[in-house]
Amino acid sequence: MRIDILTLLPGLLESPLGYSIIKRARDKGVVDIRVHNVREYGRGSYRQVDDYAFGGGAGMVMMIAPVFELIENLKAERQYDEIIYLTPDGERLAQPAVNRFSTMVNIMILCGHYKGVDHRIREHLITKEISIGDYVLSGGELAAAVLVDAVVRVIPGAISDETSALTDSFQDRLLAPPVYTRPEEFNGWRVPDVLLSGNHKLIAEWQEEQALIRTKLLRPDLLNE
Ligand code: ADE
Repeated sequence: MRIDILTLLPGLLESPLGYSIIKRARDKGVVDIRVHNVREYGRGSYRQVDDYAFGGGAGMVMMIAPVFELIENLKAERQYDEIIYLTPDGERLAQPAVNRFSTMVNIMILCGHYKGVDHRIREHLITKEISIGDYVLSGGELAAAVLVDAVVRVIPGAISDETSALTDSFQDRLLAPPVYTRPEEFNGWRVPDVLLSGNHKLIAEWQEEQALIRTKLLRPDLLNE
């Protein structure tokens, strides 16, 4: 899978995309992530990328031309399954959309900045608008990092234990059961006996039951979807 990320702040994405599962997936060639600096397409000697909003109001708007040119250049190279714009007024991100993105061949992600991008980009080039939650970030970069992290971990081959991502919370509309590791007892706090029993059937039943109990308790809305 290939992911092209368009941003004014490439440095902000370097670290989140350079560690752990994402780093290993990139090293293994499971995912090819390219970060493009919109500034390189800026206008004039100052490489201008933002301008005042028509109609006034506080805050700058990302100009149409630099973003348009960069997107068109990328589109000339390959066909994109989805061109995603990260914005607080997008569709709220959840696991089903993450899973869908993970099956795609090429996706493009545009990080918004300032007051956002000229709306004509959204009308004519963007195919999907995504929000990572009902709060406002300073830009789309951290949201892009969240989206890419969530997508990459479910690409087959990204995680060495194939089943691990499938047992994540939300994958079966349930929260994950509690997990424990050694020692069996710490400070008088014991690991549930069933997990030490070696009985895989009993353990699986317990985990399923715990997942259901925790979901009912903490996120009953998931059970009504
Ligand atoms: N850009 C700013 N806030 C955002 C959010 N909540 N989700 C996605 N992109 C954003």
